[in-house]
Amino acid sequence: MAQYNLPRGTQDFLPEKSEKVSYVEYLLKSVAGLYGYREIRTPIFEHTPLFLRSVGESSDIVNKEMYTFLDKSDRSITLRPEGTAGVIRAFVENKMYATPDFPVKLFYYGPVFRYERPKAGRYRQLNQFGFECIGVNSPYADAELILMITSIVSMLGIKDFKIKINSIGDKESREAYKDALREYFKPHLSTMCEDCKRRYEQNPLRILDCKVDSNHEAVLNAPKINDYLNEKSLKYFNDVIVLLNKYGIPYELDSSLVRGLDYYSDTVFEIVATAPSGQDYGAIGAGGRYDGLVEEIGGPSLPAVGMAFGLERLVLLLDEYHLLDDVKSKLDVYVMPVGKESMDLAFEVTTFLRSNGFKTEIDYQNRSIKSQFKTVERMEAPIAVIIGEEEVKNGTANVKNTLTKEQVTIPLSQLLPCIDTLLRTMEEPDNHECGCGCGHHHDDHECCCGHDHGEEHECCCGHDHDDDHECKCGHNH
Ligand code: HAM
Repeated sequence: MAQYNLPRGTQDFLPEKSEKVSYVEYLLKSVAGLYGYREIRTPIFEHTPLFLRSVGESSDIVNKEMYTFLDKSDRSITLRPEGTAGVIRAFVENKMYATPDFPVKLFYYGPVFRYERPKAGRYRQLNQFGFECIGVNSPYADAELILMITSIVSMLGIKDFKIKINSIGDKESREAYKDALREYFKPHLSTMCEDCKRRYEQNPLRILDCKVDSNHEAVLNAPKINDYLNEKSLKYFNDVIVLLNKYGIPYELDSSLVRGLDYYSDTVFEIVATAPSGQDYGAIGAGGRYDGLVEEIGGPSLPAVGMAFGLERLVLLLDEYHLLDDVKSKLDVYVMPVGKESMDLAFEVTTFLRSNGFKTEIDYQNRSIKSQFKTVERMEAPIAVIIGEEEVKNGTANVKNTLTKEQVTIPLSQLLPCIDTLLRTMEEPDNHECGCGCGHHHDDHECCCGHDHGEEHECCCGHDHDDDHECKCGHNH
């Protein structure tokens, strides 16, 4: 029998993983909205020249990693190796620049493809969630982006992370630096890899992120870009750093950071986090300013800054910290028909509950009540509705709270309010936890407002608890 395996470097997202990825995407989308980003979707494949022009002919991505093929009309097509080029192509092609209201802020997510050597956290099909802020050249825009991603990473619960940041300067600074690098590497070239020899001609900056020669003495001791930044670039970078300091962003200056895509200018950064296992998954996100790209792709001269998270790396890390353990789609109700005659009514009840918004599943196989309860346990359904011959006859249902094991028999007309109330009480268990999300237990009388309601009288809700005794959480303190 033929065996079909996954292509190397790809993975299936089974429901458990998909739900985690969707949760992270949902959170990122909410924060993106908060910062004024709107969603854009561009094709997964583009004409190859777009990537040659933007990502750059000297980059490893273009040279070695693109999935490029001829379509049936002999056009060269490439599966997108990243999102920025497509977004800027769409921005230019749709004349999104014809607005007086800059910046235009766009976010996107989806798969990108790179023919890389797979390892932990490195795939050939990966998912990125990216942000592009187009139309302003301001240190505030760079700082805002970094602030946003810092708050995303913190909101997700990751504490041990930092932003590695550098400036690769404007065009003038980079040209001066490239000249210096050529001069410097010239006597070392014969000892360097073949790719570096090509990089030397095309763009010597790329030698600095060579994976083969990364420990080569000459690479380690190469001149740093910082010494070649002109006054304008130096000031710009300094202004960004002042803002990062002001807002307490955990950053580290990294003078060897140059990024592997050709479109960058001035600010570049990567987000790195420590995994509890010590496993190095690489940066969880990266980006920078790219002031020349819109024009390069045929649009007006407009500056831009952006970044992309690698969703797989983010989820790997969050999983290691057990920060996604609770992310799982859970049932509200499991309907248990007992005996063939009850199937019709049980199915009707299931359909009715679903149409009223309750996540409901049913046993289709006429299994024993014991097997059905095992399923209820495995699915962690908080409520079981049991319908047997007697219930069909009487127009009733048995509703069981699977946590407390309490069971009541009720007329079918009472099913909705009964399930609704049960689910609500489960959401607000008797553990005295405040409903305002402060995480405090009211046994100790302390509310989210920091007041002890046993002694002081006014809560964050404005109520005096001595008089009406009720907090906004609904609890009586
Ligand atoms: P990038 O650094 O090539 O930048 O990729 C961004 C993120 O995607 C990386 O930090 C990493 O988390 C993830 N990533 C990249 N390659 C892989 C891989 N093979 N396997 C798993 N994850 C990976 C860009 O793509 C730019 N377009 C970012 C940007 C947007 N710059 C400005 N705007």
